[in-house]
Amino acid sequence: MSEIPPPPVQPLRERDGKVELLDQTLLPDKERWIHIETVEQMREAIQSLRIRGAPAIGIAAAYGLAIAASNSDVTATSNLLADLDAAGARLASARPTAVNLGWAVKRVLGHVASTTYGSTEALRDAVWTEARAIMSEDLNMCRRIGLAGAELLQGGSVLTHCNTGGLATAGYGTALATIFMAHALGQDIHVYIDETRPLLQGARLNTWELSKAGIQSTLITDNMAATVLARGDVQAAVVGADRVAANGDVANKIGTLGVAILARHYDVPFYVAIPTSTIDFDCPDGRGIPIEERAPAEVLEFRGARTAAAGTEVYNPAFDVTPAELVSAIITEHGVIRPPYRENLAKLKR
Ligand code: MRU
Repeated sequence: MSEIPPPPVQPLRERDGKVELLDQTLLPDKERWIHIETVEQMREAIQSLRIRGAPAIGIAAAYGLAIAASNSDVTATSNLLADLDAAGARLASARPTAVNLGWAVKRVLGHVASTTYGSTEALRDAVWTEARAIMSEDLNMCRRIGLAGAELLQGGSVLTHCNTGGLATAGYGTALATIFMAHALGQDIHVYIDETRPLLQGARLNTWELSKAGIQSTLITDNMAATVLARGDVQAAVVGADRVAANGDVANKIGTLGVAILARHYDVPFYVAIPTSTIDFDCPDGRGIPIEERAPAEVLEFRGARTAAAGTEVYNPAFDVTPAELVSAIITEHGVIRPPYRENLAKLKR
C-alpha cells in the first residue's frame, strides 16, 4: 500500500502559544494566518467564514473556549466555569446549521463540568487539552473516512460541491479526503469541482487544495453539473454535510440537493462523507434542521461589484436538505453506511 502523506492543509494552528487561523476569505489569492486572541474574534471568524466547514468550526469553537479560559482572570473554578458557559453560548450561536459547532462546545463544557479541579490553572489546562483532543481526533477520523471512501470510489471522475477538504476539518477533509486517499493509494482519479455560488468555496478553495495535492480537476459553474452528468463524464458524486438527521436526511451547502437529484436521474451514486460528530440523533428528520440565511450582499454583489439592480429582493439560504432516499451511502470513520439509515445510523450510535 502507498504511504499516506501528512495533511497538506490545515485551517488552525498553535504558534508561540497563540491560536492562528488561515483566513479562508482571502484564498486563493493570499495565504494569511491571523491571530485569534478573544472569544469575539473567534465568533467573528466563524460568522464571516474565515474558518468554515462543519468540523473546522467545531474545532474553532473548542479553541475559542480555550482562549476564554486563558483570558479569564477569576480565581475560583466555579467562576471560571461560569465564564466558560458564557463563552460557549457566544460561540455556539455563531452559525446555526452545522451541528459540530454546538457538539464541540457541549463536549468541552461537559468534560470540564464532570470533574472537580483543584485550581483554575488545572481547569484551564483541561480546556486546552480537550480542544487539542477534538482537533487530533478529527484528523484521525478524516483519515479513516478518506480510506473508506477511496475503497468505494475506485478511481474515475468524481463530482463534488463546496469545499470539504483539509480547510473544512482538522486536515484531509471528508468528501475531499476520499479523493486525497484514492490518489495516495494510486487510483487514477479526477474531480469535477462545482464552483459553489455564491461564495465560491469550490472555485477558491477546492482548486487550491487539489492543486497543492497534485490531483487533476476541472472547474465548472454549478449550472454545468447537469451537462457533465448527462454526458456520462462522472462516475460518482461525493459531498460533505453540516448536519445529518437521524433518518439520514442531509443538510449541506446550498446546491447539494440539485446535485443529488441529478445524480439520481443519471443513475450515478451520490455519497455523503461525514465524521459521526455531524450526525444529530436528536433531530428526527431534515425538517428540524435550522438553515442559515446569509446577507443579501453575497448574492447581489460579486467581489464588491454590484451584479443586480439596486433594491432587488434576495433569498440567500446557505444550505439545503437532501432527502435520505437520494443518498446512496454515508461514508464515516466507522465505514460505509447503507439504507435504511434510521436503523443503520442508530446501530452506529449504539
Ligand atoms: O458555509 P460553509 O462554507 O461553512 O459550508 C460548508 C459546507 O457546506 C461543507 O460541505 C460541510 O461543512 C462539510 S465540510 C467537511
